Amino acid sequence: MKTIFSGIQPSGTITLGNYIGALKQFVELQNEYNCYFCIVDQHAITVPQDPVALRKNIRSLAALYIAVGIDPDKATLFIQSEVPAHAQAGWIMQCISYIGELERMTQFKDKSAGKEAVSASLLTYPPLMAADILLYNADLVPVGEDQKQHLELTRDLAERFNKKYRDILTIPDVRIPEVGARIMSLQDPTKKMSKSDPNQKAFLSLLDEPKQIEKKIKSAVTDSEGIVKYDKVNKPGISNLLSIYSILGGKSISELEEMYQGKGYGDFKSDLAEVVVNAFKPIQDKYYELINSSELDDILDRGAEKANKVASKTLKKMENAMGLGRKKR
Ligand code: AQP
Repeated sequence: MKTIFSGIQPSGTITLGNYIGALKQFVELQNEYNCYFCIVDQHAITVPQDPVALRKNIRSLAALYIAVGIDPDKATLFIQSEVPAHAQAGWIMQCISYIGELERMTQFKDKSAGKEAVSASLLTYPPLMAADILLYNADLVPVGEDQKQHLELTRDLAERFNKKYRDILTIPDVRIPEVGARIMSLQDPTKKMSKSDPNQKAFLSLLDEPKQIEKKIKSAVTDSEGIVKYDKVNKPGISNLLSIYSILGGKSISELEEMYQGKGYGDFKSDLAEVVVNAFKPIQDKYYELINSSELDDILDRGAEKANKVASKTLKKMENAMGLGRKKR
């Protein structure tokens, strides 16, 4: 059975973008692959986090993984900082990375733009991500489009390591969903929807209440034309909403265009709000059942134990190949 690794940062509450671009794929893939799903809290601290909020977001993300349909008996769910091999292998990956290639990463450029104090870890985020993936010998990494460049770097680093030391690391392939790989901000449809966007109206969180969902969709930026038509270049706002409707409502874009012919954005937006509310309802019900349960801790304990076993084995091989530490006599 082939292996999958993917992670999500607990840097806020999961958005509809994270759900469509990542989580929804995970649920479909868990039946066919040996899956490792990680809450990458060490990645989250590459930008400032409030410790109380971070703890809350880690638990919340764990509950959401299960609530959307991840089965902990099939997939391994764990927290990155509970598996020390990630930081250790991350250091090794940094040692074989070049500053130039890290500076070229668009996420680094976006997140550091206009900031006076940028942490070194924002630059070294991709080698840590490479370590996350390579420790589990992942064959496939399902992500949204924004992570494609990091995945390419992961492949380069793995090849570099194998060539320089020993052929140990599996070169992973990337899997990007055909539709919904990039859900856009509701307030600026030329920018991707992000959970850490300071403007709450820009994203739909999986835990938003029906009233909030309705309000956010009603205030989503569209255009003045009033025609429900998919045109990503000239009508990015309505095109983004059409994608969301299509994915969550199970209707094709052309079916939707036909349904709303001659109707304005108002009708379209209220129906879309209903579709989103209905899609989130079962997830939220399951989430509130789980969030304070000891079952969730048991799942994470089991996950960390299993992940530690696999990750420490790969780390040992990497260290041996590089000549780190000593061989006991
Ligand atoms: N807008 C999006 N559309 C489709 N997929 C998306 N992903 C993120 N945003 C979108 C996918 O979600 C997974 C988890 O992402 P992450 O938390 O590791 O980091 P990110 O890509 O930086 O996501 P955010 O929401 O934008 O987080 P912040 O605000 O903290 O930077 C990935 O598979 C990603 O592709």
